[in-house]
Amino acid sequence: MGSFFSLAHKITIFIILDHEIKNILGLQLPTDPRWVDLAAISLEDILTDHAYCEQKAAASCISLIQRYPLRERLVNELSPIVTEEWGHFRQVLAELRKRGLPLGKQRKDEYVNKLLQFQKKGGDEEERFLDQLLTMALIEARSCERFKRLSEGLHDDYLRQFYRRFMESEAGHYHLFIDMAEDYIDKETVRKRWKEWLDYEAQVMQDMELRGDRIH
Ligand SMILES: [Fe+2]
Ligand SMILES: [Fe+2]
Repeated sequence: MGSFFSLAHKITIFIILDHEIKNILGLQLPTDPRWVDLAAISLEDILTDHAYCEQKAAASCISLIQRYPLRERLVNELSPIVTEEWGHFRQVLAELRKRGLPLGKQRKDEYVNKLLQFQKKGGDEEERFLDQLLTMALIEARSCERFKRLSEGLHDDYLRQFYRRFMESEAGHYHLFIDMAEDYIDKETVRKRWKEWLDYEAQVMQDMELRGDRIH
């Protein structure tokens, strides 16, 4: 499983580097190209928002481990991801400090809140578990796409590299969540529900105001 996963990870990175952004990770709606220019103007806000995104990624992995302690693979695979996401938070925090900036306040996360509304709340335990994995996969995928935009569109060379590393890392996480879903639940069910998630997410993106002060 490990070697298959690392191969899948490498293939994903290859696809990300070599293909049009609209095809990345199955996302149905590519980010508006104007977003990166808006983000470049609001870099301080982007860094603050990014820092909290990483913090929330770590917290979400911890809460999945707490919710599903008997799912052995999940516990084993997400434990190091918690450390990695927290490391990402610290890298972004260091970047803010380097620029003499405070961490800043956490904003309301409209994008993630809208995704949470789509999660199945009652009924089948397996379906609720699947939705939690797919929510994580989707947030990783969209973050990866946004980091790719920043890694290509910012003028500062250092920041382009900075965001390229995040892009690669989140692509690996996206893969892990999909892979775990297919491992725990049958592939056909995962594929069908993933398609519904992708359609829903495209609508969420479409309805959201284009703002350069946030990652999503
Ligand atoms: Fe991260
Ligand atoms: Fe991640």
